[in-house]
Amino acid sequence: MPLISPSLLASDFANLQRDIEMVNDSSADWFHIDVMDGVFVPNISFGMPVIAAIAKHAKKPLDVHLMIVQPERYIEEFAKLGAEIITVHYEASTHMHRTLAQIKEAGCKAGVVLNPSTPVSVLEDILCECHMVLLMSVNPGYGGQKFIPQTIRKVEKLKAMITEQNLDTLIEIDGGVNDKTGKQLVDAGADVLVAGSYVFGAKDPKETIKGLKSL
Ligand code: DX5
Ligand code: ZN
Repeated sequence: MPLISPSLLASDFANLQRDIEMVNDSSADWFHIDVMDGVFVPNISFGMPVIAAIAKHAKKPLDVHLMIVQPERYIEEFAKLGAEIITVHYEASTHMHRTLAQIKEAGCKAGVVLNPSTPVSVLEDILCECHMVLLMSVNPGYGGQKFIPQTIRKVEKLKAMITEQNLDTLIEIDGGVNDKTGKQLVDAGADVLVAGSYVFGAKDPKETIKGLKSL
């Protein structure tokens, strides 16, 4: 059974508390929090005060996806806000080994994110330091984009690397996840599915989460 991490980027910001409570009452496992700086990705999402407001109501772990340059500058702050998992982009952090150690020292679980164009082979010597690897299945920056099918092959390759190194690293996928792509991903070895527009755009978001959970 995959873990489900609904992305609040697709929630109704004018009714954020309502949407957080929906996730609290659903079979979802985590809250996926997308932080964008307008530099690493073209878009800007939300920052610290909004995350503090989310943390006040969320009853499940916060899975914080940093799409920002030099994420090292803010790790302690995100940890203090209540992040349980912090993922940083391989493409945005020069000294990834140090950054992962910093996340763990701050008391959080640590993960690396790869853009669609970054091969999983770059993780060979850092995988043992990761609680989780997040593979982007769209180019980061926006919700509602089309799933990139090559991601399935990447999941299989990454799963083989994890097995080969005898690790229990989780594989999370983000972008264009729905019941169809979700099924392919779970079959390929994905452990955590992020879903934004598929969940929050649904008539019955809780049922939609339940559907993903049972893939
Ligand atoms: C994209 C974000 C995603 C986004 C996914 O840059 O990292 O988490 O919210 O949205 P959907 O599920 O709509 O593709
Ligand atoms: Zn994300």
